[in-house]
Amino acid sequence: MTESVVQYRFPEGFWWGSSASATQTEGAADRDGKSQNIWDYWYEREPSRFFNGVGPGDTSRFYDKYKEDIRLMKEIGHNSFRLSISWSRLIPDGTGEINQKAAAFYQNVIDEMLAHHIEPFVNLFHFDMPLALQRSGGWVSRNTVDAFEHYAKTCFSLFGGKVKKWFTHNEPIVPIEGGYLYDFHYPNHVNFQEAVQAGFHTLLSNARAVKAYRELKQDGQIGIILNLTPSYPRSSHPEDLKAARIADAFFNRSFLDPAVKGEFPSELVEILKAEGFLPRYEKDDLRLIQEHTIDLLGVNYYQPRRVKAKEHVPNPHAPFLPERFFDPYVMPGRKMNPHRGWEIYEKGIYDILTNLREHYGNIECFISENGMGVEGEERFRDEDGIIQDDYRIEFIKEHLKWVHRAIGEGSNVKGYHLWTFMDNWSWTNAYKNRYGFVSVNLENGGGRTVKKSGRWFKSVSDQNGF
Ligand code: BG6
Repeated sequence: MTESVVQYRFPEGFWWGSSASATQTEGAADRDGKSQNIWDYWYEREPSRFFNGVGPGDTSRFYDKYKEDIRLMKEIGHNSFRLSISWSRLIPDGTGEINQKAAAFYQNVIDEMLAHHIEPFVNLFHFDMPLALQRSGGWVSRNTVDAFEHYAKTCFSLFGGKVKKWFTHNEPIVPIEGGYLYDFHYPNHVNFQEAVQAGFHTLLSNARAVKAYRELKQDGQIGIILNLTPSYPRSSHPEDLKAARIADAFFNRSFLDPAVKGEFPSELVEILKAEGFLPRYEKDDLRLIQEHTIDLLGVNYYQPRRVKAKEHVPNPHAPFLPERFFDPYVMPGRKMNPHRGWEIYEKGIYDILTNLREHYGNIECFISENGMGVEGEERFRDEDGIIQDDYRIEFIKEHLKWVHRAIGEGSNVKGYHLWTFMDNWSWTNAYKNRYGFVSVNLENGGGRTVKKSGRWFKSVSDQNGF
């Protein structure tokens, strides 16, 4: 790749790479001893809930093609990559016996990455609850916290000699929203009390895993990955400001404050108390959470959340949802990703980093997901078979400029991972929105082709900037 003038140079050792998750990429959903997780099961029961009726069975075949994929990662300049472990592959019953074939698979993946000088960032839970545990209540049940601690310890002892960056959860609020509030994950309940309980247990499981990791003294870092979606008020009217503050407490600070500061945001606690929704917990839980905060924070950022004060008195008989306190605000003139229907607001990434610097002790962090989903991306494929995704290059550049500025002002941000390495299966959206540096041909055995953005990323990584 020819050298060009570098206008935005990043600090030495910046982490360039991408992120992905097990269920979305591995395929082999029922092979080599893997048991069902909630996605396998939900798809079996209700295939019509998934875009074009495509389920998690095959996904992008990383299980079979990981060597080729890791080679491609190297080819497009990755020095790091985040994957997740499939809990239902490694411990098919959720708790108990290890599946040795799964242990060997993850060991091989880690070794292959290290052989290519790509640092593995390993996440333990990315939306994929083993069905056996969901049957006994999933995150609503305290037993799942015990099972998660056991699973985490198993992973640390199997792979912790080589893996030095661990994450307990990816976007832990999403399974709560999807499974217990807004009906886009199994078990499709709409039950605020369960949502709060599941959220509390998830946070407790994070603290337990952090504690277990520290006790092992494995000389690495452990963190959590949060989708931080800045809440912007429609105006500076006090009611709009209050709406934004409450939305922020529900959707950002609910996980950010306990994970980083060890405490729960008082606005949220007050609401839960007033509305009668405080979770059940045991005497030592709060102390455990307080004493076991994370080392490293992953920040996923796609779009902002704009809110305004409620326009109508909420129906007191409707199920209780956070939206009782604010309405979404559609800002006129906003910039859109028309292919996905999400707003693009690049400065949001800077606002998050500044907030972390000013209010969260400038905790060490990195951009763990950011990316642009495009439906019907095949239409951008040229006669040489390359997807000309200039829009994605533009998207990444514009966000990186704000990251660069935040670094200049002292933010402790160590890297940028795109969502995602290759096109993958995205839950109920299946293969609708393509995000990868690499396209995957679903009709043709999953053949891979590097997109223009992948080639461009190589030059960014080589030059440590653009
Ligand atoms: C992220 C999740 O929030 O969004 C990923 O961590 C997901 O798992 C991605 O695939 C994109 O979502 P969608 O709905 O646009 O395909």
